[in-house]
Amino acid sequence: MQEIKKRINYLRKEILRHDELYYGNDNPEISDSQYDVLVKELEILEKENPLFAFQDSPTSKVSGPQTSNFKQIEHSVPMLSLDNTYSCAEVASWYDKISKSLNVENIEFIIEPKIDGLSANLTYINGKLKIGATRGDGELGENITENVKTISDIPKNLATVLPPEYLEVRGEVFMDNKTFSSTNEEISKNGGNKFANPRNAAAGSLRQKNPQITAERKLKFYVHSFGKISGNNFKTHFEFLDFCLKCGFKIQEDIKICKSLKELTEQSEIMLAKRESIFYEIDGLVIKVNEYFLQKRLGNTNKSPRWAIAYKFPAKQTSTKLKNIEVCVGRTGVITPKAVLEPVTLSGVTISNATLHNFEEIERLNVNVGDIVLIERAGDVIPKIVKVSKKESTGFFKPLKRCPSCNEEVVKENEGEVAYHCINTECPAQIKRNLTHFASRDAMDIEGLGESVIGKLLAKGKVKAISDIYYLEAKDFLELELIRDKKAFNLITAINNSKQKPLSKLLFALGIRHIGAKTSEIIAKKFKTIDKLFEAELNDFENIYEIGDVLALSLKIFFEKESSKKIINALIAAGVNTAQPENQNSGMRLEGKIFVLTGELQNYTREKATEIIKSLGGNVTNSVSKKTGFLLAGQNAGAKLEKAKKLNVSIIEEAEFEKIIAH
Ligand code: IVH
Repeated sequence: MQEIKKRINYLRKEILRHDELYYGNDNPEISDSQYDVLVKELEILEKENPLFAFQDSPTSKVSGPQTSNFKQIEHSVPMLSLDNTYSCAEVASWYDKISKSLNVENIEFIIEPKIDGLSANLTYINGKLKIGATRGDGELGENITENVKTISDIPKNLATVLPPEYLEVRGEVFMDNKTFSSTNEEISKNGGNKFANPRNAAAGSLRQKNPQITAERKLKFYVHSFGKISGNNFKTHFEFLDFCLKCGFKIQEDIKICKSLKELTEQSEIMLAKRESIFYEIDGLVIKVNEYFLQKRLGNTNKSPRWAIAYKFPAKQTSTKLKNIEVCVGRTGVITPKAVLEPVTLSGVTISNATLHNFEEIERLNVNVGDIVLIERAGDVIPKIVKVSKKESTGFFKPLKRCPSCNEEVVKENEGEVAYHCINTECPAQIKRNLTHFASRDAMDIEGLGESVIGKLLAKGKVKAISDIYYLEAKDFLELELIRDKKAFNLITAINNSKQKPLSKLLFALGIRHIGAKTSEIIAKKFKTIDKLFEAELNDFENIYEIGDVLALSLKIFFEKESSKKIINALIAAGVNTAQPENQNSGMRLEGKIFVLTGELQNYTREKATEIIKSLGGNVTNSVSKKTGFLLAGQNAGAKLEKAKKLNVSIIEEAEFEKIIAH
């Protein structure tokens, strides 16, 4: 039982980590299908061991971006995800399952390409576009109204005489392949970081603070579903799509009605063959039951409708020559071999590098410089080598014994570990990566201080250690290529502002092994000052519910090291804050209290209300459960209010909330 519990905990954490990489950093490590394998395993384990199942598990939630610059919007009807299948056989078993469950013959289906973009919910009141929102986590999205208004496919006024009083149209915002290439060309001309794929490009362009930039990116929108509709009496999905067309929306060309599994399979094959010739990226197909009354009978799970399924296409592959194997040194000294490839185009992106993970992977693939290799893009982001397609090399690749940056011997830190580490704390490659991480957005958020500027500062000897950042002057930046007055001034301002960041950000910025942004926040809240962390014993860390053994040990090791003390003392001397601010007068009055927010608040944005609750020791979650302490209900509260009433959760309005926090 202990083993199962351990595995469940591991899977939950791993899935959340991959969610953060995918949504937070637009930088996934694994492919969608590998991700699905983790989720499936967790689902099975939770089903078989209900004792360990819990409400907030990633298996019962739609994943989505966690942090945002936009105001939040509560969806009137959750924006669900789709269950994935990867073969005709899996589609067939889904077909069997729903046929049996409905006990109806000749079910009609609609099969549509699955657009690789991001979904948006558009609210029209009396035919006028009022709100545009992203899916977010499915319950709370981001208000991107001004941005969606710049998309020409999205009508601002519906082209129909009698529009429904209230209409929510849902669809996919995406960037077509041609625009993707030209956008990337433009970005690279201006020295920026190119987007990895059209989906990232669409997400990055839509979630811009400045809607003018969204407008320039020429995004597109196709309708695929709906949220709430007043007086909804559409009979079929097809009828709804037809209505949308008449209202001035666009729908995909390759939408087809199928009346049997055979027709579904045939259409899937046609689309798979046609994939390359479609002018935008599709990552599969979506198969939906056409009749709405049948959809209603099938219903939804927490995460996805039972009446629809995604049939994901295999990752695109191509062959090219392996020109070299370079070895990189990560922030924590991990040595990672990287494949340098003869540039080749895949899904409109030129690929010249691929990950090789570690030296064992090279051995497993039996790959060496000169071989022709088959590559694919995992999750359509990071290219990886699948296998050697033609052996052209002789001999084997010899793993490095010394760090390519500082020439120190590399070691395996633990028995059985595959990765090698450079454990030299003065290693220049690690210093560069550490500095870049320190300044990054989720850490000290020093805008403009990215890898390239840091590289130049290091090369000129302007910085050697983290604390040196705080002694930089505008003239130091002006000595660097391409940095003019305004940028230098902005950099100095950003550096100064970062001194006031709370302890949680500093902890994350320090790059302690295994300690991510969330863990840093938990620790900062518990310990409140850096001194308390230096004093902590191993079991003080282990006793924290959210912290496992590996994390606890990593924290203890970090705070025990003389070098850590040196780094932090230097930061303190430079004026960097090392405490977690809290409202001193109030103590932690809301310690352990869980709030859920619903409806529109008048005097607070959701972010502000959340910040206040958290600063008083409380927490805010998305869904109402028995554990919810208070439901803070604003105007037009919806389903959460009903659920809170059912579960006898205390419901408070804004006035009461103000009293609670003002004590
Ligand atoms: S139907 C329950 N149709 O795929 C959601 N979704 O992986 C009903 N997507 O969140 C959506 N193309 O953003 C539907 N033709 C299509 C789609 C599509 C892309 C996206 C959508 C959804 C995601 C699920």
